[in-house]
Amino acid sequence: MENKELINDINNNINEYIRNIKENIDTKKALVITHGCQMNEHDSEKITWLLEKMGYIFVNEVEDADLVILNTCSVRHSAEDKVYGQLGNLKNLKSKKKDIKVAVCGCMMQREESRNYVMEKFPNVDIIFGTNNIWKLPELLSLSYGGKKLSIDIEENPLNIDNSLGANRLYNFKSYVNIMYGCNNFCSYCIVPYTRGRETSRKPLEIIREIEELAKSGTKEVTLLGQNVNSYGKNFDDRFSFANLIEEINDIKGIERIRFMTSHPKDISDELIYSFKNLNKLCNFLHLPVQAGSSRVLKMMNRKYTKEDYLRKIDKIKNVNPNIALSTDIMVGFPGESEEDFLDTLDLVKKVEYDTSFTFIYSIRENTPAAKMEQVPDKVKHERFERLLEVLYPIQEKKNKAFIGRDVDVLVEDFSKKDDTYVSGRTDEFKLINFKGNKEDIGKILKVRVKDANSFSLVGEKIES
Ligand code: SAH
Ligand code: SF4
Ligand code: F3S
Repeated sequence: MENKELINDINNNINEYIRNIKENIDTKKALVITHGCQMNEHDSEKITWLLEKMGYIFVNEVEDADLVILNTCSVRHSAEDKVYGQLGNLKNLKSKKKDIKVAVCGCMMQREESRNYVMEKFPNVDIIFGTNNIWKLPELLSLSYGGKKLSIDIEENPLNIDNSLGANRLYNFKSYVNIMYGCNNFCSYCIVPYTRGRETSRKPLEIIREIEELAKSGTKEVTLLGQNVNSYGKNFDDRFSFANLIEEINDIKGIERIRFMTSHPKDISDELIYSFKNLNKLCNFLHLPVQAGSSRVLKMMNRKYTKEDYLRKIDKIKNVNPNIALSTDIMVGFPGESEEDFLDTLDLVKKVEYDTSFTFIYSIRENTPAAKMEQVPDKVKHERFERLLEVLYPIQEKKNKAFIGRDVDVLVEDFSKKDDTYVSGRTDEFKLINFKGNKEDIGKILKVRVKDANSFSLVGEKIES
């Protein structure tokens, strides 16, 4: 499928469908609603790029839209429930506004169970496609406008075709770049290997060309995306590692910051750890999801490292780069988690001292191995969740307060959510910071003095230069 000619053929085909819609359809106001992770956010950027080519403009309210696309996430039950709620509302809307088209894509559509449920309960859905064939959207829309009741297309495994699409990036100064697709890890609680297919890496040259182009059009910060970036390149014949890739990107003119998501603790190499010291553009920030602190639970999760392995890696990272900010994903209430296991999680988070964290209550995912294990009662899960936050947040606050008085470089991203006389951005360590500023600051890297901090963000003052 990576054959160039085939991709060219497909692209010609896509262009024909795009032209068809551009020329023949008049009602073109679209809204794309995105759930889930950065993978989905970036997929939505490809979707809006296609829509723009077809002549769509974008609106913020479903009531104003002619086409609504829900890009869905399956990772937890709550994420799926949100989508079902939105589909219910769209069903009501469609009974009043008959012409509105509803499309559903993303991870939920890769799962047969949720796909069937959507088809059965929401006959108002016109189009369904998956995570591996976004490029099919113009064709599916054409079929739907041609009168087809449900246009549906799913592809099990990642192909190399979506890469040839552009992306309508939310910000031009910071960009997501896919470096690999899929996941082979099969952590016992996780749905992602079933929704995103098998792991494949994009060729280094293709990635580097994309980033060079982005740099030329103003991108200062790239975030390399993959479910498990440390196993980048495993499908290549030569030994070109993830650290090698970052090294190449580090040389690209115009790129000032490099980030990546997500690395698996079992695969993080010494080579990558040393990159945090040796490569000046690689940010001082590492998201290294631990999931749990008990080696017994980690084994049941199929994570392939112990509490001690993880702590050893963290020690090494801190020794190589004492300024690094650490982040994690942690889950409570995994099946069979005892009080003692949970205390191991609390012990680990105290030892690591994370700067930031994403915390979850285990959610049963049908047909994953953990779904069949003995479940922890809801009440216990919730109580542990609260206790975990009580330990995490004061540590985060302490780490943020240590920044008070320091001068930091901030990539300014947007106006602040609460007050539009303020702007907000990220420090090198990925800390959110707000300070007085204006439109001209957005997209620039500015020097800011930190004045205050809490568990979640910093407040600063611009240093006039
Ligand atoms: N590839 C990434 C994770 C993607 S999913 C990685 O390995 O780090 C993001 C996070 O969702 C996971 O790290 C995990 O903490 C959480 N998660 C995944 N499945 C879950 C489930 N069934 N219930 C609760 N949280 C879950
Ligand atoms: Fe899920 Fe594990 Fe793959 Fe991450 S590494 S996506 S948690 S299976
Ligand atoms: Fe991401 Fe959710 Fe899919 S976390 S990979 S959008 S299941």
